[in-house]
Amino acid sequence: MSDIFPYPKTVPLAHTPSRIEYLERLSKRWGGPEIYIKRDDDTSCLLSGNKVRKLEFFLADAQAQGADTLVTCGGIQSNHARATAIAAKRAGLDCHLILRGKEIQIPDGNYLLDLLVKSKITFVTKSQYLNRDQIFDKVEKELTQKGRRPYSIPEGGSNGLGALGYVKAMEEIRDQINETGLQFNAIVLAVGSGGTYTGLWIGKKFFHIKADIIGFNIAASADYFREKIFECAKELENLMKMNFFLTKEEIQMIDGYVGKGYGKSRPEEMALIKEVAQREGIILDPIYTGKAMVGLADQIKKGRFKKGQKVLFLHTGGIFGLFPYREWFKKNQKSEV
Ligand SMILES: Cc1ncc(COP(=O)(O)O)c(C=O)c1O
Repeated sequence: MSDIFPYPKTVPLAHTPSRIEYLERLSKRWGGPEIYIKRDDDTSCLLSGNKVRKLEFFLADAQAQGADTLVTCGGIQSNHARATAIAAKRAGLDCHLILRGKEIQIPDGNYLLDLLVKSKITFVTKSQYLNRDQIFDKVEKELTQKGRRPYSIPEGGSNGLGALGYVKAMEEIRDQINETGLQFNAIVLAVGSGGTYTGLWIGKKFFHIKADIIGFNIAASADYFREKIFECAKELENLMKMNFFLTKEEIQMIDGYVGKGYGKSRPEEMALIKEVAQREGIILDPIYTGKAMVGLADQIKKGRFKKGQKVLFLHTGGIFGLFPYREWFKKNQKSEV
């Protein structure tokens, strides 16, 4: 295999390469491996986080198809929905969001930004959201009847095309490894809909990266995500007409850090978000990266990652999802490290 990946066209959105930084104080404090962080939370303010790398591919595809409205879905505080809404406006398109939840009286976090850029919003209940394909169909039909040209992006931007964003990120990591000589034993990340993991996995295979790719599921179960990631990787193979000789056994997920469930936080997660903020000036979010960092810290304690190793934590962003947790922060003020 040549190491030139035949990416389809992209629209540049993220400021890349994102930096890789050493978390010196945290590494010393935790007494395990050297912990590095890839700052995908810092690829520009509004267009930061993992969703933006996926959107670079979606936006180019939408433009090639002559679309004028992006349609996507997520929870009311979805980072993906906000990034899509803003990316749409950057390209002069409209955005229609299908959001799970109820309209909130005082807009906040990602939802506030969705409104600021004037996204059209359809609220749905949890059970309606389970049948979101039907809702996508309905929204697409309505838009088409109005003479608009919709382009739909799945939840979390996790399909074969979106995953390419992290194949490309893996190529960037390969270049950074070559430049710095840093050899990572593992790259760890939060898994929410699976596309980011999929891209890194395919990238690891294509660019011959030695590091293990280890995901912490922040919802559902590791088994659920193994299936989902495998499916997404198969889609990527079909899209690219390539064969990556995939086996499910290669997908490394560590279960046990979902805590109280998707979007629900525990005091120990809050304590860790505070510890990382106070020691390193790195801000994690309660839904994704906070839980993944709890997973990393615990796995260091359990000896899964050891002194002498190097671990790269992929910071996938999510800062705007932090603000609606202000009440919870207040209640847990005493959960100091
Ligand atoms: C901040 C953040 N980190 C991680 C993830 C998980 O990425 P993926 O959906 O590709 O698994 C998401 C979205 O789900 C996210 O918004």
